[in-house]
Amino acid sequence: MWHPPSPIKHAIPQPSWPTKDQVSRGLWFRPISLGPVELAERTWVPAMVPWRATEDGYVTDAVLDWYRRFAQGQPGAIVVEATGVRDVKSGPLLRIGHDRFVPGLRRLVETVRRASDGRTRLFIQTIDFQTIRRRPAPERFFGEFLAITDRHRERVSGSDAAIRARLMDMSDDERRAVLTDREWQSLEYGHRELITDLALPHMRDLPRTLPGTFAAAAVRAREAGFDGVELHYAHAYTMASFLSALNDRPDGYGLTLEGRARLPLEVYRAVRAAVGSDWVVGCRFLSDECIPGGGTVDDAAYFAVAFAGAGMDFLSLSRGGKFEDAKQPKVGWAAYPYTGRSGYECIPTVRSDAAGPFGRNVEAVAFIRHRVRAAGQATPVVVCGGISTYQQAEAILARGQADIVASARQTLADPDWFMKVRSGKGAEIRRCVFTNYCEGLDLVHKQVTCKLWDREAIDDADVVLANDGRRRLTAPPWRHGSASGSETR
Ligand SMILES: Cc1cc2nc3c(=O)[nH]c(=O)nc-3n(C[C@H](O)[C@H](O)[C@H](O)COP(=O)(O)O)c2cc1C
Repeated sequence: MWHPPSPIKHAIPQPSWPTKDQVSRGLWFRPISLGPVELAERTWVPAMVPWRATEDGYVTDAVLDWYRRFAQGQPGAIVVEATGVRDVKSGPLLRIGHDRFVPGLRRLVETVRRASDGRTRLFIQTIDFQTIRRRPAPERFFGEFLAITDRHRERVSGSDAAIRARLMDMSDDERRAVLTDREWQSLEYGHRELITDLALPHMRDLPRTLPGTFAAAAVRAREAGFDGVELHYAHAYTMASFLSALNDRPDGYGLTLEGRARLPLEVYRAVRAAVGSDWVVGCRFLSDECIPGGGTVDDAAYFAVAFAGAGMDFLSLSRGGKFEDAKQPKVGWAAYPYTGRSGYECIPTVRSDAAGPFGRNVEAVAFIRHRVRAAGQATPVVVCGGISTYQQAEAILARGQADIVASARQTLADPDWFMKVRSGKGAEIRRCVFTNYCEGLDLVHKQVTCKLWDREAIDDADVVLANDGRRRLTAPPWRHGSASGSETR
């Protein structure tokens, strides 16, 4: 995990928590309309991948437990983790690329409805992503993967087999002079398909295939009973790559702001046409790509106005989380988009710069929301990033910087925290310490848990453990009043 140079260790804010009465007069726990539905309050659990689906992408009991636990805190909305829209192998990530996934997803919806007493609205984040290969050992790269071209033949003499052998023996500097930048990247980081690889038919055809694929996924989500869909246009994945300032596709789907927004708008329109106007369709995208040459907050404001104008029901803003500045993975591992500076901006820790990790995205989101309002659109805007106190959320809403305040890691640390604040029991909240233990597990594709509770009472009979047998998979129940009290929910 990347940290700013000479990091400052920031303390977790220790607020005095509001009484129940104060909360009832505040803003965070007030209802808000999201297109055709109403959220009971402006609290929001954003998407978090917990690595609990089957290898085939189906919902498991552990997936149900994960979402049940969040639903017990009765937030205004939960967004189910990034769920693949194509029917392709993607390890233990949820999928929605075929009708066979609908029954499992329906069980998930029913689980959340029951656990939240029907109070929490449930959206699902739908994602498309491109192939990324593990970093190869040099002998495999030069022996098998590298396609020998005239460029190599001009720079290294001998048969193709001899060129492969010579490349194996070269120093890094010598190899760099022979390989293209892209080949060098594939050697050092693992090959990654890019949306700008127009020589590949499936990349060239994305504008023709993706609208229908996202639309079919949304129809399945509606059938499963979700309240709506969050189109994943953020971080390191296909749709964010179209929005990116690095997108130089010359086919009308890149280069200019209009070109970059074109496919995301076409996907949205296809989804809307498929699900109708009485179902929520929103998206998550980046307020700032946070990479050299990447899109800025001005670009994001342009996209926000376009998305709102097209009829999206909400705009959720994240930041960073890109492959372009990811750390070099070890041989045999794939690069991960949360390991560089942009990853830090996405999921910041307490080892930070002077700005600190708390509410790092707020200013950018406020700017974007202002531009949406100036364009005459009332679309609700969701902010996220380092928000873990009532005071932070209230201040953001009071200043008109966002309409909904989301909290990922704090909700993982204590899924009951919204319930605790709502009932004037904020002092009982288990506070996230923002050290990214959870993200570290995500990075190595292990079931995500929180270090504040995953070793607690692991010998109890009803506790379900992670595959490593050492960590419980969900937070212990809230015992009202004291850690050893008997009243549980
Ligand atoms: C374990 C983990 C998994 C995540 N998975 C997703 C995801 O599937 N989709 C997404 O848009 N963001 C994902 N995020 C990012 C969060 O939604 C959120 O933007 C980020 O954690 C910053 O918010 P926070 O400071 O409240 O944690 C993930 C974050 C974590 C820690």
